[in-house]
Amino acid sequence: MKHIVFLTGAGMSAESGISTFRDSGGLWEKYDVMEVASIEGWRKNPDLMIKFYNERRAQLDKVAPNDGHKLIAQLENGFKVTVITQNVDNLHERAGSSSVIHLHGELTKVCNESKSEIYDIGTRAVEIGEKASDGSRIRPFIVWFGEAVPLMEKAANIVSNADIIVIIGTSMQVYPAAGLIHYAKRDAKIFLIDPSDVSIPFTSVNVIKQKASDGMRILTEKLIQLP
Ligand code: APR
Repeated sequence: MKHIVFLTGAGMSAESGISTFRDSGGLWEKYDVMEVASIEGWRKNPDLMIKFYNERRAQLDKVAPNDGHKLIAQLENGFKVTVITQNVDNLHERAGSSSVIHLHGELTKVCNESKSEIYDIGTRAVEIGEKASDGSRIRPFIVWFGEAVPLMEKAANIVSNADIIVIIGTSMQVYPAAGLIHYAKRDAKIFLIDPSDVSIPFTSVNVIKQKASDGMRILTEKLIQLP
């Protein structure tokens, strides 16, 4: 059974109503990324960050997986599928994907300051000043700018064994996630689904210049015809 690895970013969830970061009107036009998504920001103003992630977590109750998420999950009927996502929403899981790696953490989880204790809180808000059992502040289980990406080695290993790699909805600007594509084996087939032009340092990328849902419909047809 061929192994397909999806590398997804914020554009994957755009049709579900979740803002991307760098498109016009994106999240980083409204907020200072270093204030709300960096370890420095946490040290300076943790309450602001608790509120920022409470808002993003609460939004999960108002959004649903789009057809793109669902078509990825349906491919598990004929392929081994792994989703490696930069997204912190839970839409891939809610669409039925059974193997999802969140490189940048998960909105529905929080942890203690040392990240040694992780709690699944669903979409409830974190109280300002809420403490973990070790007495440290509860914080979002998110990988912020300035922090290591613990799942990177596992993700790179998975990409290096993929027969097909599909990049959907990421501007490929944030490392180390954007560097994952360099672990692809030489004969891996690479597809890119994005309505904009995304620069990829590979000549042999099959570009499907569409939004995630339409792109996945086209890709599904192509995959069925693969030998
Ligand atoms: N379908 C598919 N792709 C889309 C859609 C859509 N409907 N709408 C926008 N896109 C594409 C954009 O063209 C862009 O290439 O999604 C990409 C979004 O890029 P970014 O906003 O930079 O999001 P992403 O690449 O996921 O950001 C990476 O940056 O701020 C950090 O941690 C954050 O995980 C995030 C990381």
